[in-house]
Amino acid sequence: MVATAPSSLSDASNRDIQRGFMTLSRYILQEFGDYSAEAQDFSALMSRISLAGKMIAHHLSKAGLVENALGVTGTVNVQGEEVKMMDEYANTVFIRAIEQSGLVCRLVSEEMDEPAHLPDNCSLGRYAILFDPIDGSSNIDADLSIGSIFSIIRAEGIDEGNYEDLLQPGHKQLAAGYILYGPSTQLVYSMGKGVHAFILDPSLGEFVLWKDNIQTPSRGTTYSLNEGYYCQWAGAVQEFVRYVHRTEGYTARYSGALVADVHRILMYGGVYLYPGTLEQPDGKLRLLYEASPLAFLLEQGGGRAATTAGDRILDIHPTALHQRVPLVIGSADNVAEVENILRQHATTGPSC
Ligand code: AHG
Ligand code: MN
Ligand code: MN
Repeated sequence: MVATAPSSLSDASNRDIQRGFMTLSRYILQEFGDYSAEAQDFSALMSRISLAGKMIAHHLSKAGLVENALGVTGTVNVQGEEVKMMDEYANTVFIRAIEQSGLVCRLVSEEMDEPAHLPDNCSLGRYAILFDPIDGSSNIDADLSIGSIFSIIRAEGIDEGNYEDLLQPGHKQLAAGYILYGPSTQLVYSMGKGVHAFILDPSLGEFVLWKDNIQTPSRGTTYSLNEGYYCQWAGAVQEFVRYVHRTEGYTARYSGALVADVHRILMYGGVYLYPGTLEQPDGKLRLLYEASPLAFLLEQGGGRAATTAGDRILDIHPTALHQRVPLVIGSADNVAEVENILRQHATTGPSC
C-alpha cells in the first residue's frame, strides 16, 4: 500500500512543510536536473557562500552588543577607502568558508590588493570567486541594509603574474549573486537560467526559496543616484537628472548600498546610476565584483546594464582586477531611456 501524507494537517501547514524543503542546495541540484560533477560542485560552492552569508548575518545581528564588530580598523584598502571592522570580518569569513569547499584556488576581493591563493585547493580548484564582502560599508554603523556580492568563474590556472585568466568578461560568469542583510537575510543568485531569491529562515538555519524566475518590470518609477555629485558630472548626466525632475512619476531612492538599491529595482523596476565624476571618470564601482555580477542578475531578470558610454557591462574585457566602471543598471526601458538622453547630450557641457 502507498503511504499518503496525514490528512489532519491544514493546507497551510502542508504548504509550510513543502516550502521548508525547497532549500538552496536542493534547488540548485534541481536546476541542473542531475547529480553531475558540475551540479555537485555548484551545490557545494553555493552552500559555502550561503554559510558565509549566515555567519555574517549572525555577526551583524549582534554587532552593536559585542566588542570590535563596528567601527574602522584604521587601515586603508587597495581602493584608498578606509576598512571597517565588518569589511575585514566578512572578507575573512568568505575566504575561510570557500577554502573548505576545496574547489577554489584563488579569490579576488575588494579588500585585498592581490587575490587570496589557497594552495591546498589548486590541484582540484576549477573555479575562482570574485567578491565584495560588504557592500554599502557606510551603512554598517547605523544598522542599515548592506550586502555581499559574488561572482563565480571558471579559472583553472594558477597564474599569479597578471592574473589574466581572472580577467574575463562578465558574460562568461558561471553564476553570480548577492546576499542582502536587511529586515530578513536574502540570497539572490543566477546560474544563467533565471534569477531566484531565497530567504534565510533563522530557526531552520536554511535559505528557503522565496521567489524563482524573478523578472524586473520593464519600466519602473525609481531613479537611484547620488545627486550630491551633480556639479561633478558631465552635462549629459546632469541633463538626465533635470529630465527626471520635470517628468511626473519619477521618484528618488538611494540607500548608499548598491545591493539594496539594485534589489529594490529588481523587485519594483527603475534605474540605478553611478556615473563618473571629474575626479573619478570611471566612477566608484568596481567591474569584476560589483557591476558585473549585478549586470548578470539584472539581465537574467529581463533588465539591462551598460556603462554611461552605452557599452554592455557584460561585454567589457577587464584589464585590471580592481577596475572601476561608470554604471547604469535597471529595467530595460529605463536604461534605454538613460542611454538615449546621454547619447543626445553627449556634447553638452556641464553647468553648475
Ligand atoms: P563598498 O561599501 O563596497 O565600498 O561600496 C559602496 C558603494 C555602493 O554600495 C554604493 O552604491 C556607493 O558606494 C555609494 O557611494 P556614494 O557614497 O559615493 O554615493
Ligand atoms: Mn561595494
Ligand atoms: Mn565593499
